[in-house]
Amino acid sequence: MKRNRILSALMAGTMVLSLAACGSSASTSTEAAKPAETQAAATAAAPAGDTKKADGMKVGIAMPTKSLERWNRDGSFLQKQFEDKGYKVELTYSDNKIDQQVKDIEGLIADNVNLLVIAAIDGESLSQVLAQAKEANIPVISYDRLIMNTDAISYYVSFDNYTVGKLQGEFVRDQLKLDEAGDKKYNIEFTAGDPADNNAGFFFNGAMDVMKPYIEKGVLNVPSTQTDFNQVATPAWDTAKAMSRFQNILGSYYSDGTQLDIALCSNDSTALGVTQAIESDYSGTNSVIITGQDGDEANLKNIVDGKQTMTVYKAVANEAVATLDLGVALLNGEKPDEGLIKSAGWNFDCAYDTKSYDNGTGIIPSYLLVPTVVTKDNIQKELVDTGYYTMDDKGYPHPVG
Ligand code: GAL
Repeated sequence: MKRNRILSALMAGTMVLSLAACGSSASTSTEAAKPAETQAAATAAAPAGDTKKADGMKVGIAMPTKSLERWNRDGSFLQKQFEDKGYKVELTYSDNKIDQQVKDIEGLIADNVNLLVIAAIDGESLSQVLAQAKEANIPVISYDRLIMNTDAISYYVSFDNYTVGKLQGEFVRDQLKLDEAGDKKYNIEFTAGDPADNNAGFFFNGAMDVMKPYIEKGVLNVPSTQTDFNQVATPAWDTAKAMSRFQNILGSYYSDGTQLDIALCSNDSTALGVTQAIESDYSGTNSVIITGQDGDEANLKNIVDGKQTMTVYKAVANEAVATLDLGVALLNGEKPDEGLIKSAGWNFDCAYDTKSYDNGTGIIPSYLLVPTVVTKDNIQKELVDTGYYTMDDKGYPHPVG
């Protein structure tokens, strides 16, 4: 308590200046921020004394694993954002091991961090350790994945997770013109994410809500009959697990020559496994529509090569910027709300949501960024022209940062 009051006093001046600096440049532009511009804007918005005020303050960032590409990008963007503002940063990766993440967070608390930013491995397993954070008056931002059953969470920063799934479903609907299907019928299989990840259900429901009417009308058929989240989930979002489940499906329901038209996958790591299964175990010659999420390098290569059809891209550079501004406000002892979006002057879209995310202890106020559909046709415009990726001379994109 005492420590936080001192911190609040130290930081108060900084935030007022910072808000004033950003206030006039508030923008509702739908154009995504370029990472380079974002960094520049963040730096420009920092008043001269900012770095000095942050001196000594430490931010603990707990990421789930390095084995999934996006978390590497999240970790380094977050670290850079906070360090550029003069904060010390301790960044942990917990190898997708729940006990390890609990230990890592305990370590961050013991190291007297002033703010915790956590992307949980298992949303249900952090209640005890976060009770310690609450006891020590450390504000906690639930980053990207909602942490369940703890009142230690101050805020949630993520993308609109339901919309991610909805975009995947709408893509399939529009690609196959399902509303004008007539007598045509298509076969679809679903692959969802980790049941321990609260996002996974949102992605699946978003997609299923679009697909369901067509399944009910018989336009879409699911030969495996696996349409429940628990049947199609992939523990740890693991590529090899997604692959072996899909090989089983292909072996059991498609080996008689049945055509697979759509593999609706919740993210890129699972899409990668499904694509491998289709390459090795599917005898059909049609090109299967495969969805994904994240814009992982291997998947973008597959999109360029025509092996995956789309990915839902989430600009994690912007997610880090939103987390920085929210984090600084919390370190100032403020209670940010919708006003933060304007005062911070972000040049990317973000909604303040106080309805959608109940973590079991009540609604967690959320800042939700907007995802984008990326296909072969708009990689250049959405990923390269925006500065998020560079294109190599073979035409494959590689993430910046
Ligand atoms: C989700 C995240 C996705 C994807 C997935 C696998 O929580 O929102 O972007 O990366 O985890 O790590």
